[in-house]
Amino acid sequence: ADAGRNAVKRAAAEAAVELVENGMVVGLGTGSTAAFALEALARRHRQGLRFLGIPTSERTAAAARAAGLPLTTFAEHRQIDLTIDGADEVERGTLNLIKGLGGALLREKIVAAASHRLAIVADAGKLADRLGTLAPVPVEVVGFGLEATRASLEALGASTRLRKAPDGEPFATDGGNRILDCSFGPLSDPARLERRIRHVVGVVECGLFISRADPVIVADQAGVHRLDS
Ligand code: A5P
Repeated sequence: ADAGRNAVKRAAAEAAVELVENGMVVGLGTGSTAAFALEALARRHRQGLRFLGIPTSERTAAAARAAGLPLTTFAEHRQIDLTIDGADEVERGTLNLIKGLGGALLREKIVAAASHRLAIVADAGKLADRLGTLAPVPVEVVGFGLEATRASLEALGASTRLRKAPDGEPFATDGGNRILDCSFGPLSDPARLERRIRHVVGVVECGLFISRADPVIVADQAGVHRLDS
């Protein structure tokens, strides 16, 4: 089942990489699907395509360096032409997203906000009629006052879990913050929820990506489908 799902993720990633043109600044996403895009980008780089990448995590930066991809930073380029990133859940019809199960949501959102286009690559198993059906909403919070911030998020209706690293210690993001995975159940108004979460003092960012994705490239066993906003 894993091999099949990986083939499908790879197909979506390959289709997205076809959107990259010579001279572009490209945001490099995080996660297993985005990793297939990195592979395809490395191949096109070897074939002579010129572009500069901006990674959305330390993990992706290390993988990009290992693959020999040329990288740049916001100090050199404030605008990104195209970002290719994964998602944890995609709302059918609206293309609103939940991201951040990989822990990279803050840098992913900064890169997405600076991008002319955000191409999302996913397997069809990530599609849902309402966000919150498949994934919790990851919320990055500063460590100081965590319990108070957590209580404020619970007051918005969430049940919360502090994300743990494999060693059992609280997970630390690339920015040194914590993640509270917040389950609200299926969301009827994710845009409003995003505003309410971001209003909570102590919250750095949340994994709701509203009206940002264009296109979403979804693959299943039958092929690759492109959903435009
Ligand atoms: C990282 O923080 C997430 O937003 C990823 O984009 C997400 O977890 C997708 O990962 P997979 O492609 O491995 O599902």
